[in-house]
Amino acid sequence: MLAEHLKIIGVVVGTIGIFTLLANAIPQVQSEVPLDVSFGADVSASELTASGELLFGSAGGCTACHGLGTRAPNLLTGNGGDGPIGVRCNNRVPGESCKEYLYLAMVDPNVYMVEGYSPIMPDMRRSLSNDQIWALVAYLEAQGGEVTVTGADINQGREDSASSASTATVDNGVAAPASSATDPVDILNGNACLGCHILNGTGAPIGPSFDGIGSRLTADYIRESILDPGAGASEGFEASLGLMPAIYGNQLTAQQLENVVMFLANRR
Ligand code: HEC
Ligand code: HEC
Repeated sequence: MLAEHLKIIGVVVGTIGIFTLLANAIPQVQSEVPLDVSFGADVSASELTASGELLFGSAGGCTACHGLGTRAPNLLTGNGGDGPIGVRCNNRVPGESCKEYLYLAMVDPNVYMVEGYSPIMPDMRRSLSNDQIWALVAYLEAQGGEVTVTGADINQGREDSASSASTATVDNGVAAPASSATDPVDILNGNACLGCHILNGTGAPIGPSFDGIGSRLTADYIRESILDPGAGASEGFEASLGLMPAIYGNQLTAQQLENVVMFLANRR
């Protein structure tokens, strides 16, 4: 049953190239909200901001880290007295406009590090399209500042990602998890799992380590933990329940999910 459902989800996700459902616990096949966006040359600031707002609170996965206080800077309120992100983006890197800073914060998050935080933010090109990233930039600019993103930026971004495209690409021109990776380690890397879990001693210890996980948990339990992370806390990580994004039922194809589950179940 579950496998059947996952197959259907896999086809849907594979076809549209990016997850479109809200960050619900259990995979569903329908969505009211078209999160996979593509903007025309004359897109308006308010269209971009509205799309960005949707993504930020759901499929973008941003609130898994931002908004919880200590793990990542709060973007919507002042952070240490320097104003919401649409204000403080002006003062981060001398010579960099807000729009440049915010775009880079998303695609090359470790090039400028906000003081006091760890480098756990994933390159968002792995899970979001060029147009989605620009929508998020517009939404963040709107938090206290003026939206300067235009159709021209979005188009330039498409050209840049097309010309730097590697072999494993999808529509948005970057290696994306919702694409074709079948190797479990590539899938873990591509989905930012190691931003929160340890594998072979590397990664971040925000969630339980993957090393030895197969001697503690069955494949079924691991599968459930990935699809419905809110269902039950892992021992010792009760306080972190709710941190793991509930997006992977949509973001992984059925085959990718099974490859990851089997890989983890065999790490004894
Ligand atoms: C796995 C955790 C995580 C996720 C998911 C995440 N971020 Fe971050 N982000 C961070 C951390 C930690 C920092 C601060 C360290 C740094 O500068 O990289 C940060 C920094 C930022 C900054 C710079 C903030 C500043 O004060 O200058 C922006 C902008 C940002 N993130 C946007 C986003 C958006 C938009 C999303 C969703 C598409 C997102 N992040 C998802 C952890 C995360
Ligand atoms: C933003 C951080 C974050 C990301 C990204 C993340 N996880 Fe988690 N994960 C956690 C936390 C925290 C827990 C423990 C709390 C809980 O059970 O929800 C957890 C729990 C788990 C568990 C259950 C482990 C146990 O011992 O019970 C598995 C399996 C797991 N994650 C797999 C994954 C996989 C696979 C990915 C990528 C596809 C992933 N996680 C991405 C934070 C994250």
